[in-house]
Amino acid sequence: MTYSIDGRTVSAEPRPGQCLRTFLRESGALGVKKGCDAGDCGACTVWLDGRAVHSCLMPAFRAKGHQVTTVQGLASGNALHPVQQAFLEAQAFQCGFCAAGMIMTVAALDEDQRADLPRALKGNLCRCTGYRSIADAVHGVGAIEQDVAGAACGASLPNPFSAGIVTGHARYTMDVDTADPALHGLLHLKVLRSPHAHARILRIDTAKALAIPGVVAVFTHEDVPKKLFSTATHEDHLVDPDDTLILDDVARFVGQRIAAVVADTEGAAEAGCRALEVDYEILPAVFDPLQAMAPDAPLLHPGNDGLAGGARGNVFLCLKGEVGSVAEGFAAAAVVHDETYSTSRVQHAHLETHGSIAWRDGDGRIHVRTSTQAPFITHKKLCYLFGIFPHDLHVFTERVGGGFGGKQEMLSEDLCVLATLKLGRPVKWEFTRPEEFLGATTRHQMTTRVKMGATADGMLTALEVHVVSNTGAYGGHGGETLAAALGSPLAAYRCPAKKAEGHAVYTNVIPGGGFRGYGASQTSFAIESALDDLAAKLGIDPFAIRRRNMIRPDDVIQSVWAEPSDVAFGSYGLDQCLDLVEAELASGKGDQAPEGDWAEGTGVALAVLEAGPPTEHRSGGEMRLLADGTYHLAVGSTEMGNGSVTAHRQIAAAVLGTRAEAIAIINADTDRAPYDTGTFASTGTVVAGQAVELTARALAAEILSYAARRTNTAPEDWRLTADAVESATQRISLAELCRLAAAEGHHLEAKRKAYLSPRTIGFNVQGVRLAVHRVTGEVRVLHSVHAADIGRLINPLQCRGQIEGAVAMGLGWALTEHMVHDAQGNILNAALRNYHIPAFADMPRTTVLFADTHDSIGPLGAKAQGECAINAVAPAVANALANATGVRFAHLPFTPDRIFDRLGRAAGAPS
Ligand code: FES
Ligand code: FES
Repeated sequence: MTYSIDGRTVSAEPRPGQCLRTFLRESGALGVKKGCDAGDCGACTVWLDGRAVHSCLMPAFRAKGHQVTTVQGLASGNALHPVQQAFLEAQAFQCGFCAAGMIMTVAALDEDQRADLPRALKGNLCRCTGYRSIADAVHGVGAIEQDVAGAACGASLPNPFSAGIVTGHARYTMDVDTADPALHGLLHLKVLRSPHAHARILRIDTAKALAIPGVVAVFTHEDVPKKLFSTATHEDHLVDPDDTLILDDVARFVGQRIAAVVADTEGAAEAGCRALEVDYEILPAVFDPLQAMAPDAPLLHPGNDGLAGGARGNVFLCLKGEVGSVAEGFAAAAVVHDETYSTSRVQHAHLETHGSIAWRDGDGRIHVRTSTQAPFITHKKLCYLFGIFPHDLHVFTERVGGGFGGKQEMLSEDLCVLATLKLGRPVKWEFTRPEEFLGATTRHQMTTRVKMGATADGMLTALEVHVVSNTGAYGGHGGETLAAALGSPLAAYRCPAKKAEGHAVYTNVIPGGGFRGYGASQTSFAIESALDDLAAKLGIDPFAIRRRNMIRPDDVIQSVWAEPSDVAFGSYGLDQCLDLVEAELASGKGDQAPEGDWAEGTGVALAVLEAGPPTEHRSGGEMRLLADGTYHLAVGSTEMGNGSVTAHRQIAAAVLGTRAEAIAIINADTDRAPYDTGTFASTGTVVAGQAVELTARALAAEILSYAARRTNTAPEDWRLTADAVESATQRISLAELCRLAAAEGHHLEAKRKAYLSPRTIGFNVQGVRLAVHRVTGEVRVLHSVHAADIGRLINPLQCRGQIEGAVAMGLGWALTEHMVHDAQGNILNAALRNYHIPAFADMPRTTVLFADTHDSIGPLGAKAQGECAINAVAPAVANALANATGVRFAHLPFTPDRIFDRLGRAAGAPS
């Protein structure tokens, strides 16, 4: 058969049942992406005779005789299609994984459809942007600025890979050329996952699987190193319990991997999984963390002696702290509020699923191309597990299609390396979307009891918090998220007495992991809700009670630990943020409430976040002057849509007085970039960015010093410009200087490292005005406003986009998203259409405002960009709902059925 794809004639025969998406990718159209393979996300959108279709839903043979156009065939010659150009100018993407499909959908819209984007874009999801920049692109609103030498910092410059993203030529983890000799004989790996929440494996019969044509090998718990580890990636591996095996003989949650099948094709590997016969001994399971803490509860990890605090049984970590005396504080209070709040288990839903590819090169080294936020820690873990000499292993990323903490894990790399070592052939494993819900990680579900006391004029006298964190079957990130939960949300307020106690508890559900906001999100929800409840009891305005109690620049930043921390005020803009949000909410902007039985209310919440984890975090930079007078920058952090690559170029350019486009950057590669702990916990800007700044300063000094040596002058006589060094009497182009140095065997280069301490502190305030239907429970956000103190804005457009994305994710957490499991531990909504991340139609246009501050700790005055913003969103929604209805909604998410039920109970209806 012949097919017309992007103007090419392709002669190929689709396999029986093959969908158009995989057929197109196999024909070289790698711009066609997979987010779900179920028609839910639109990442695979292409044109069939000019009509946008989801190629994952279309049988490939149906495209015969039609013109298929992918994003790679949209441009004419070198000229971008107007929609591609508009997406570039509005920077209507972050990770960019959705962009190809989004562009194809938008480019097919007529004028009427463009006027109704909520409907027109209902089939395309973006997890990163919050959709505002996409709407801007459709309406031709450009936002990028000129790249002017010496003025890179503070300019809204485009992502350096923008052209590749909008044309579909940017390469993500799975976008490999299978004709590459290194990938010759590529095998595909699939795993059988446990159908039981708790079971011992008695026998695995692999015979039928191995008999399937194309199946090459099956690996079970008998084939893996008996080394316990944690899938979580931190600099200090001791902060996570080593409780995981690559393949275990005990399954502890539905979805745990049981066996891996490796085959010539994905289909054969899947058939092999189905053919495996496994005998299980079913063990008692426990899903509720309170029940799991009971002495007679089934034990998930017998022998667990926890990390600290005398933990045992299913409790692997207890944290307790008190400053002052809460007993005295409550005794002195005029009013005490005591309530329990809970948050839901949610999924990151980055559009690019987890996956990696491993191969052994002719030099004998193992190479791993992977979608990770932490290639260097993954490298360490793989070396440990398989006894690989560090030099013999290379781990790297290409573009990563979103992470949000979900890729701060080693979830796929270990099995690919195992199979490659055993079989000597390249092996690829790409998660399906259901596997993301069943076998990746989630935000920890936490239940938080908050007790607050205050004087009659609203001054806090005591604050006590008890947290139970459900870490699921394995404890990665369980301790660190619990510590974060007891940290900055309590430190946000002055109070003479604070106490907190937290337990991280194993249960037979999918493991928790790192997730944007990282534990602090959960207790911010509880404390910010409780503070409004307390304010209501006292008759005090929610803004006023926050202003009376929030931390101030001269305060000690303290939660409940007596030991001093390394967190410091690099800048302070919380007061500005509250003022900005209050004024914006009072402005009357936003939508009007619909006609009918709607109640309207406003809510506010604040969030404080320490930039970076309390444990170690390191990053390095390397820079070199190139022969053409431009620069090479290598930095180890991962770019996953967080904008770090763009920011790093701008930081380097600002220091060197040049344009960002003069900085060629590589990142996240253990061979080609210096060590970096990983891109998480807001470290992309504050640690890696600092390494870049230090490196650029060192290189500038080296260049001036060399110019001085060559000319027998002093370095102070010279200054660095965009393309030369100049003194009062001389000018040497950078290209010439590089040539002169090279002729002496000298390279103009520099290396520097940055270490995360002290840690600065960022502030966010979210305001919401919403309407809730008194009968149906439907919620409409009428006005969303967010103010952030993130220090100096390295790239204002990018900073705004990060916050819009965080607000969108927060609204999803507040209103629609939660993972539902049944009494046997089966996840019931393991698909995007049932899980419901926000679509275009769900998102208000958030007004993003910034405090005017300059941080004394972060690089060039900047702080973290997009992490903390999410923490204030759900409590602001909860407080607006309470303001609208007079009823407290204390348990996320606020779906219409829950609101209906809660309002009914509050009105006295039988539940
Ligand atoms: S991959 Fe086709 S709609 Fe998601
Ligand atoms: S930019 Fe849309 S999913 Fe990442």
